[in-house]
Amino acid sequence: MKKYCWIFLLACSANAGYAQQPNPLQIPDTLSGSNIYLNVASDSTQFLAGAKTKTYGINQAYLAPTLMLDRGDFVQLHVTNGLADTTTMHWHGLHVAAADDGGPHTPIAPGTTWAPDFTVLDEASTYWYHPHLHEHTAEQVYYGAAGMIIVHDSIEQALGLPHTYGVDDFPMIIQDKSFDSLSNQLIYEAISDTMMINGTLNPFLRVPAQMVRFRFLNASNQRVYNLGFPIGVSFMIASDGGLLEQPLAVTRILLAPGERVEIVVDFSGITNNLPLISFNSEMGQGISGGPFGPGGGPGNPLDGTDAPVCEFRIGPPTANPVTSLPANLRTYNIPPVQNAARTRVKDFDVDVAGFPFYINGLVYDHDYINDTMRLGDIEIWEVHNNTDVAHPLHIHDVQFHVIAFNGNFVPGHLRGRKDVLLTQPGDTIRFVTRFEDFADAHTPYMYHCHNLFHEDGGMMGQFLVIDSVLSGHEDSLNLAFGAQLRFFPNPTSGMLFLEDFNKDPERVTSIEVVDMQGRKLALLAIDPNRARHTIDLGACPAGMYLLHLRHKAGGHTFKRVTKQ
Ligand code: C2O
Ligand code: CU
Ligand code: CU
Repeated sequence: MKKYCWIFLLACSANAGYAQQPNPLQIPDTLSGSNIYLNVASDSTQFLAGAKTKTYGINQAYLAPTLMLDRGDFVQLHVTNGLADTTTMHWHGLHVAAADDGGPHTPIAPGTTWAPDFTVLDEASTYWYHPHLHEHTAEQVYYGAAGMIIVHDSIEQALGLPHTYGVDDFPMIIQDKSFDSLSNQLIYEAISDTMMINGTLNPFLRVPAQMVRFRFLNASNQRVYNLGFPIGVSFMIASDGGLLEQPLAVTRILLAPGERVEIVVDFSGITNNLPLISFNSEMGQGISGGPFGPGGGPGNPLDGTDAPVCEFRIGPPTANPVTSLPANLRTYNIPPVQNAARTRVKDFDVDVAGFPFYINGLVYDHDYINDTMRLGDIEIWEVHNNTDVAHPLHIHDVQFHVIAFNGNFVPGHLRGRKDVLLTQPGDTIRFVTRFEDFADAHTPYMYHCHNLFHEDGGMMGQFLVIDSVLSGHEDSLNLAFGAQLRFFPNPTSGMLFLEDFNKDPERVTSIEVVDMQGRKLALLAIDPNRARHTIDLGACPAGMYLLHLRHKAGGHTFKRVTKQ
């Protein structure tokens, strides 16, 4: 439990407010092409005067190159794990097959290379990539294994938005860190007290006096930012997974871990330096980093305090500056709510001890499938945050559109394509999505809180997307120690027989029949003295079912069966 006890750790991070000269903002290199090689490794980085800081990076000492992808591209990736620990690599926000998604079920052992591939099906927007090994995601991201992905497409290119990387289109990866003042090493377990962008402490950026696009990514473990300028408005043009319908005038952008936002700022006519500030004093109930957030309080110099994030120094405009924004950007393609196959409710609760946080009463179990979706289905999700802290919910595979926000009007910045949604205490939020293109009865996708400490603590569930038209059937299930269960006949027209329980050292204690909507149809207690059991599916409609086998040792296994 010790890693979650922030109170004891605040005393260790004595570095707050150390003098830092302004540093030019580093802009990560880019990588593109049909073969992309990524090498995750540990290294060291000169953040502070004196000793270097041990960091992780991908093809560089800290953070990673920005992947530049075009919609429709086919990309072959080669991810080599040069760390001493196992890792995975997840393409956050991209719509790819579960086996290529890089979740906890596709580990990359040290010294090995994982080679997923996919076609870029996503709309132009800002995405990112980071490790996703269960219980190690926070640590590996904190040490620096994370990078941005920019997807362009023809609709976006035709709009004439600023899009020259590093000239009028800038990546802004915001993170917070704590340094041990004696050794300059990162203190991973602390709620951090020092902000950086793209790995640059106290950054400034020279920008041309014209319309400039910024792509903000909150790659922090738990801190939320509330970005804005002391005066004037900016125009938000994109949320996580795509452009908004129209540019939206904003003065503040609340950015939770995992979220991305693109804004355009018009620097023309501005001569003074302009600070970008995180208005932490204005953040609401339960939000990490705000005045009422967990871990907040007088011990942390950032929490609840407005803090500069980056200083913009205005220089001459480029040769062909963008001088206006189009009135309309893109049309939303929202799945029709009236065609939703179901409403799936997700309740966030917390253990009496204050940790871990639960989704529908459960913590993550690597061998347990929490939800099964049918390929092609439109679903409404209704999320209730019953805890007193804010949680940014993230779902793999899909983008969604918020359709109801505490019974109120959905604010403009939440209407676009989203894959992370910040829920505050007491919130009830509904959104709609569609599970399309990729089905895999064996490899699940994840959904989880993107507060990485909460995620690693088990605030995560997994779902299978299953094509209801089955091809090929299994008739046995291999368990640990070579034991095997036989199921026959499969497919069946009614009776299903199970055999050989007594040879199963992890003995199955009960079997539940679950349909593809997640409904429990029958529960069979297993008699350890009998070698054969019978399940009667005669009353069930034709289709596919999952047998949920609970083991004596506490594990779970699933088995697909088909009723003809
Ligand atoms: Cu950004 Cu499941 O991850
Ligand atoms: Cu993700
Ligand atoms: Cu959470």
